Amino acid sequence: MKEYKIAAVHGDGIGSEIIPPGLRVLNQVAKKFNFGLEVKEFDWGAGYYKKHGDFMPEDGLDILSRYDAIYFGAVGLPDVDDTLPAMMYTFKVRVHFKQYINLRPVKLLPGIDSPLCNKGMDDIDFVIIRENNEGEFVQNGKIIHPDEPHGLATDTSVFTRKGIEQVAHYAFKLARKRKKRVTNVTKSNTLINTLAYWDKVIGEVAEQYSDVEYNQMYVDNASASFVLRPEVFDVVLTTNMIGDILSDLGGSIMGSLGLGPSGNINPEKDYPSMFEPIHGSAPDIAGKNLANPIGTIWSGALMLEHLGEVEAANAIVDGIKKTTASGLKTKDLGGDAKTDQVTDQIIKNIDS
Ligand code: NAI
Ligand code: MG
Repeated sequence: MKEYKIAAVHGDGIGSEIIPPGLRVLNQVAKKFNFGLEVKEFDWGAGYYKKHGDFMPEDGLDILSRYDAIYFGAVGLPDVDDTLPAMMYTFKVRVHFKQYINLRPVKLLPGIDSPLCNKGMDDIDFVIIRENNEGEFVQNGKIIHPDEPHGLATDTSVFTRKGIEQVAHYAFKLARKRKKRVTNVTKSNTLINTLAYWDKVIGEVAEQYSDVEYNQMYVDNASASFVLRPEVFDVVLTTNMIGDILSDLGGSIMGSLGLGPSGNINPEKDYPSMFEPIHGSAPDIAGKNLANPIGTIWSGALMLEHLGEVEAANAIVDGIKKTTASGLKTKDLGGDAKTDQVTDQIIKNIDS
C-alpha cells in the first residue's frame, strides 16, 4: 500500500475549522482507494508568532522538507502586523520549496448561483496559473526616512528568463490537456520593462506549442472579461501579483471566496508542494463553524492529484459537486449549513 506523509499546517482564524474537515475527507478517500496517509498537524502561524516570536520554529522548513506535501489553511490575525505572514510563512515556503506554479481553478459548481447568473457551468471553467516565486512579490525594496518630509519607499519587481520560461511551459502543457487556449494576462503597456520582457519570453515559449491558441490581454480588460465573458478563458497565465488579485475575482464569480482551491506546485517534485484554499484566515467569521470548507477540501483533491491519486481526487470533486447540487450551502453562499454539515455531506456522497 502506498503511504503519503502530509504536513497539515492549520494557520490562524478559520484555519483550524477548515483543515480538520479537509483531513476527514482525505482519510475517507484514502480508505476507499486503498492508500495510506500519515498526517502530522502543526499550529504554526500568527498565533504561534505571538507566543514564540516566529511563524514557525527555526527548523520549520527542514521539518516540512520531510513530507510529501503540505496541506495549509491560511495565516494572519488582526492583532499581528499583516506584513509578516507572507514574509515569515507563505512566501518563505513557496520560494524555499521552489513552488513556482500557483494553480487556481475557477469553475462553477452545480447548484451554486454565480453572481453572473446568465453564465453556466460551461462558461465558468478556467484555471489561473500564477507565477509564484518572483515578480512583484520578491520584497526587494526599502523604506527610507519614513517620518521625514523626504521619506520614500521602493519595491522593485524581479523577472528572470528562467522564471518566466518555467511557468510558461507549465501553462502551455496544462492547456494541451484542457481546451488548448492560453491567455497571457499582463500590463506591458505601462510596465514597459518587466512585463514587456515577460511578454517577449512567453511569446517565444508559445511558438513551441503551435497546437495551443495563444493570446494576450491587459489585466484591466481581463478583470472586466472575468465578469462579462468568462467563457473566453481556459488557462490564464499571469504574474504573481496580478494572479493574486485575479484569483479573488475568480473565487467571487464562482459564488464565494470560500469555494476556491489552489496548489503551490513544484512540478519537478524535488520538494513538497503546498495546497491551500485561495482565501485568508477570515477572522470575521472564525470560531463560529460558519466557514465554507469546500475550497480547502477541493485543495485536498488537488494535492492527491499531484501525488498521483487521480481517482481519489476525482471522487472528492464529485462529492463536492453532489453536495452543492443538493442545495446544502454555508452562509457565504446564502445558506444556513455549518462547516461540519457540509463536510459530513461530502463524505457521505463520496461513499455512496
Ligand atoms: P479573507 O480571505 O480571510 O476574508 C475575506 C472575506 O471572505 C471575509 O468576509 C471572510 O469571512 C470571507 N471568507 C473567506 N474564507 C471564507 C470561507 N472559507 N467561508 C466563508 N467565508 C469566507 O481575506 P482578508 O480579510 O483580506 O484577510 C484576513 C487575514 O488573512 C489577513 O491577516 C491576511 O493577511 C490573511 N490572508 C492570508 C492568506 C494566506 O495565508 N495564504 C491569503 C489571504 C489573506
Ligand atoms: Mg490572495
